[in-house]
Amino acid sequence: MRLDVVSIFPDYFAPLGLSLVGKAIAAGTVDLAVHDLRTWTHDRHHTTDDTPYGGGAGMVMKPEPWGEALDALEAASPLPMTIVVPTPAGRPFTQAMAYELAARERLVFACGRYEGIDQRVIDHCRERYDVVEVSLGDYVLNGGEVASLAVIEAVVRLLPGVIGNPDSLLEESHSTGNEQLLEYPNYTKPPVWRDRAVPEVLLSGNHALIAKWRRERAMERTRERRPDLLGEDFS
Ligand code: ADE
Repeated sequence: MRLDVVSIFPDYFAPLGLSLVGKAIAAGTVDLAVHDLRTWTHDRHHTTDDTPYGGGAGMVMKPEPWGEALDALEAASPLPMTIVVPTPAGRPFTQAMAYELAARERLVFACGRYEGIDQRVIDHCRERYDVVEVSLGDYVLNGGEVASLAVIEAVVRLLPGVIGNPDSLLEESHSTGNEQLLEYPNYTKPPVWRDRAVPEVLLSGNHALIAKWRRERAMERTRERRPDLLGEDFS
C-alpha cells in the first residue's frame, strides 16, 4: 500500500518509523512518503493560511498550495488516490472504515490546521478522487496530524502479514469475529498478584467454559460502557 501524508508539520510522522508500522515500511508492505505542504508555496514566508471570508476567528488553509500538492502527488504515481481528510466535521472513524481503507491501493492524508482547508479543495477533490472525511471523535485537536497517525496505525495493522498472529485481529474489540463487542479482560502469569487471583475458569483448561466466560464478560462490559454497540440507549 502506498501512503502519502501532506502536512505543515512533517515531523509529527517520525514515530511511524517505530514498531509495527515501521516494520511494515521496512518490509515493503507500506510505501510511506511524508510531504511538507510548504514545498508548494511560492512566497518568501511560505504562507499556507489566510483569514476567513465572512469574518470570524481563526485562519483557513489557502487552496493554492493544496491544489499543487495534490496535482504533484497524482502525477507521481498511477495508483488511484483515496484522499483522507481528518476533520472534527467528518464521519466518525470506525474499525469498519479501517478495513475499507485497508483495501485501497493508495491513501493520501491531507492534514488541515486551524479552521481547516478551503472547502473548494475538498469539492475539487471529490470530482477527481475518492474523498473520506474522518473524525477521530467528538473533540477538537489542533490539526489533522494526530488523527492521521491514528488512522494510519489502525489501517496498516490490517494489511496482510503485518500482525504476526492474524487470529488476534478476530478477537479484539470492534472486530466482526467478536460480534462487535468490547474485548473481555485478559490475564497472564503469575496466577496471584498482590492478593488478586486470576479467575479460576481461565486455569481450568475447559475451552468451552472459557469461551462462555469471555463472552459474558465482553457482553457485561459492552452493556456498561457502550450500550450503543448493542443497539441500546446511552441514557
Ligand atoms: N482535526 C481536529 N480535530 C479532529 C478530530 N476530532 N478528528 C479528526 N481530525 C481532527
